[in-house]
Amino acid sequence: MFSKIVFSQDKRNNMSIEVRNLYKYYGEQAAVKNVSFKVNTGEIVGFLGPNGAGKSTTMKIITGYIPASKGEALVCDIPVSVDSLETKALIGYLPEHNPLYLDMYVREYLEFIAKIYNMSDIKDRVSDMVKRVGLEIEQNKKIGALSKGYRQRVGLAQAIIHEPKVLILDEPTSGLDPNQLVEIRELIKNVGKEKTVMLSTHIMQEVEAICDRVIIINRGEIVADDQANIIGLDKSIQTVYVEFDAKVSKTQLRQMAEVQKIEPLNDGWLLESDTKDDLRKIIASFAQNNELLILTLKKEEKSLEEVFKTLTQK
Ligand SMILES: Nc1ncnc2c1ncn2[C@@H]1O[C@H](COP(=O)(O)OP(=O)(O)O)[C@@H](O)[C@H]1O
Ligand SMILES: [Mg+2]
Repeated sequence: MFSKIVFSQDKRNNMSIEVRNLYKYYGEQAAVKNVSFKVNTGEIVGFLGPNGAGKSTTMKIITGYIPASKGEALVCDIPVSVDSLETKALIGYLPEHNPLYLDMYVREYLEFIAKIYNMSDIKDRVSDMVKRVGLEIEQNKKIGALSKGYRQRVGLAQAIIHEPKVLILDEPTSGLDPNQLVEIRELIKNVGKEKTVMLSTHIMQEVEAICDRVIIINRGEIVADDQANIIGLDKSIQTVYVEFDAKVSKTQLRQMAEVQKIEPLNDGWLLESDTKDDLRKIIASFAQNNELLILTLKKEEKSLEEVFKTLTQK
C-alpha cells in the first residue's frame, strides 16, 4: 500500500511531455520528421508553425489519437500508445476546430463527457467546470447557439473535466474575435496553472502572450527550441533604444550598472538589462545626472515574427 502512494505522488510530480525522434508518414509524405523535444512539468509551451507544418499531427500522436510511424511520445514518463487508456487519462485535449455536438445542451454535453470518464458526482463536477470556464450564463443553451468564444469555453471544460496533468490545445484561439481572444488566453493561463500545457498556434503574438517558451516547427521539422531562450521570449530581459541630444560614450553609459549590453545603433544606443526595474527610468535618471536630453526612448519588442521568418524560409 505504501509503495502505491509513493507511485501516485511520483506521477503527480512528473507532468512532462516528451517526444523522441518522432516520424509520421502519410503515404510518401513525411508530415513529421525526426521531431524531439521535452516540455517540463508546469511549463506553458507554444508550438508555433505555419499551416501544414505538422503541429496537429504531432499533437494527435502525443494524445494517442494516431500512432507514430517511428519514434515515441511519453506523457508523465509513460509511453503513449493508441490503445492505452493510461496516458489518455493524464491528458486533456482540445482538438483543432473544437469538434462539438452542436445539438447538445452545454450541461448535457459535459455530463456526457464526464460519463465517458466514468466519473462519480457528475452533476457537481459539471457545475464546477461551468464555473471554472465562465459558462454560467450559457450553461442551459444548446452548444450550436453559442458564440465561438463560448464554444471554446465548452471545449476547454471538456478538456479539463477529468483533472488531467497535461493539456494539449490545438489552435485554441483560432477564429476568435479580439475580445474573445483576450478572454480565452486568460482562461488558458488560468486553467493551465499547475498543469503542463502545450498549445499550437500560427500566431507569434499568441506565444508571447501566453507561453514561457516556444518550439517552432516547419515542414515537419523542429527549427527552433527556445530552451536556451535564443528568441528572447524571456521577459526578464529588457531592450531599450535611446537617443540623446549630445554625444555620449560607451564608458559614460557604463555608469548604469544595471545595463549589461551597450551597442551603438543609428544615432543612438541599444541597451539591454535584466533589471527588475523599468530600464527606461534608469536611462532617464542617467540622462538627468549627465545633463542630457532624451530625444528618443523606445522599448524594443523582440520580433518573434522576424525570427520565425528567417527560420522557416529556407
Ligand atoms: N490524414 C492525413 N492524410 C494525409 N495527409 C495528412 C493528413 N493529416 C495531415 N496531413 C498532411 O500532413 C502535413 C501536416 O499537417 P498538420 O499536422 O495538420 O499541420 P498543422 O497542424 O501544422 O497545420 C500537411 O501537409 C497535411 O496536409
Ligand atoms: Mg493543425
